[in-house]
Amino acid sequence: MAEVLRVSCGGLSPQEVGARIELRGWVHRRRDHGGLVFIDVRDRDGITQSVFDPAVASAFDVAQSLRNEDVIAVTGTVRIRPPGTENPKLATGDVELAADDVSVLARSETPPFPVNVDADVDESLRLKYRYLDLRRPRLQRNLTIRHKLVKAMRDFFDERDFLEVETPALIKSTPEGAREYLVPSRLYPGDFYALPQSPQMLKQLLMIGGIGRYMQIARCFRDEDSRADRQPEFTQLDVELSFVTEDDVMALMEDCIAYVWRRALGIEPARPLPRLTHAQALRDYGSDKPDLRFGLPLVDVAGTFAQTPIAFLAEHARAPHSRIVAVRYPGGAALSRRDFDGLTEAAKGFGAGGLVWVSFSGDGWKSSIARLLDDATVHAVRELAEAQDGDALLLVAGPRAAASDIAGRLRLHVGERLGLRDPAAFAFCWVVGFPLFEHDPDSGAIVFTHHPFTAPAPGQEGLIDTDPLSVRAQHYDLVLNGVELGSGSIRIHDVALQRKVFEILGHTRAEIETRFGFFMEALRFGAPPHGGMAWGIDRLAMLACGETSIRDVIAFPKTQAFRDLMMDAPSAVPDALLGELGLRRASRG
Ligand code: AMO
Repeated sequence: MAEVLRVSCGGLSPQEVGARIELRGWVHRRRDHGGLVFIDVRDRDGITQSVFDPAVASAFDVAQSLRNEDVIAVTGTVRIRPPGTENPKLATGDVELAADDVSVLARSETPPFPVNVDADVDESLRLKYRYLDLRRPRLQRNLTIRHKLVKAMRDFFDERDFLEVETPALIKSTPEGAREYLVPSRLYPGDFYALPQSPQMLKQLLMIGGIGRYMQIARCFRDEDSRADRQPEFTQLDVELSFVTEDDVMALMEDCIAYVWRRALGIEPARPLPRLTHAQALRDYGSDKPDLRFGLPLVDVAGTFAQTPIAFLAEHARAPHSRIVAVRYPGGAALSRRDFDGLTEAAKGFGAGGLVWVSFSGDGWKSSIARLLDDATVHAVRELAEAQDGDALLLVAGPRAAASDIAGRLRLHVGERLGLRDPAAFAFCWVVGFPLFEHDPDSGAIVFTHHPFTAPAPGQEGLIDTDPLSVRAQHYDLVLNGVELGSGSIRIHDVALQRKVFEILGHTRAEIETRFGFFMEALRFGAPPHGGMAWGIDRLAMLACGETSIRDVIAFPKTQAFRDLMMDAPSAVPDALLGELGLRRASRG
């Protein structure tokens, strides 16, 4: 008897014709046809057709009993498919396995949704039976791409002499921005560990510890309010280096993007990546994470309304902290009144009180407020916004921050409608020059823009006492297709400056001591200048895979409401377990 080779379900080609092969995998599909039984066998590598002939009765009988998702081992001889029956959709489509033996390794109940097609299935069902969803091509492909991205990151930093260092998941509660997850200690009842929101302080301590060049694929935990691109636990590419400037870190990370994109996706991103200041990004795109896959920058047109009798426009044209912004809609003159009503509704959904539109054609102009406008004003607005015949302009007026935000969202909406947000295009950019502090609109307090370890721009340290809100940070964000992919900064390495920043943020000396004492002490033992960055790997993988949800690139994600539907977590635990931890069950409101 010829030797039996074990081959993956994607591994057969005409080269193996005549060989005896064993395939192991799942029944992808069974077809009974012309007296024969055809079983497509599937594993992660692919699908191979096996054919059972009634002449081999024992195998044929088993084959007839097989149902989708049964796990089998099939043995047979590889042969070329009869002419006209080749399947060009399958990598193995020129050959088939003439089966003479099959054993059932496990039976499957009828799955709650079809596993052998990528049909749309309700997401909660997919998440409850995630192990079945994982068998489908979409997640197999996404997890493969994710693996390649992470492998390329590790290789990139390894080649540059970085050490991957694991930092602990049980640490001290050290607020960094979001709410923390706490872990009760059994040995010290009433005391808690916290799960890290990021390894921020630990990687800085590694620099003080002389590691010099650190990276980690790090798991982070944040008890945040749910949002589409957030999970309560997520993964970062975390990087830190000693003796570097902002430009050094950005150049390194830019090289890393090029390396990872080339190796994992075979794509060469355009370089150098554009750099925008925070102020420019807000002015031109109404967002600190601009989507640069398309242009259509916002245009300030307040000047043209300085003398207008239209009260609300006049008010915002004169108010120093207001903006009147035009969003250009190429081809928008062809829209119907109903389309413009739809755009107005969209603007209201973004927080606008209303929307003014003006459209231009060879015959003249039309507007939602035509009776209030005059030719000279419309002409001036058109000149400024460089609108062509056939275009429309959408005008948003309001306080600066709100008007920018609404106009920025409208720009994205227009881009979406015009098909300008191509998921296969990758537009990276840096945003720099963020303020170090900002006002919390709710409490009015001064809060940090990113985290309290960010260094002020060189020479601006003095302003921290006199005019903290004017201080720029040595901070940089990496943005891809309108998504904040990562952020980083040069850190404070001077203990006096770090104390001053904590004090500006409202911490008393005693609080600084209890919360950050260990860190402040470390800064006194020769802390090198250092800086770094972290990327959100889930978001990066999402964009690389052309997905719109990070859940589709995570093997076992939580829902948008942060529940694990497969394991049913979070869930109650026995009172006895709580007692051991010195805890009591809270009554459910
Ligand atoms: P930051 O908080 O900006 O910086 O986080 C870095 C990146 O992590 C990703 N991210 C998330 N992804 C999924 N779900 C979440 N809940 C979530 N929160 C953040 C984002 C984000 O850009 N220690 C600093 C980095 C540094 O300064 O070096 C930090 O964690 O893509």
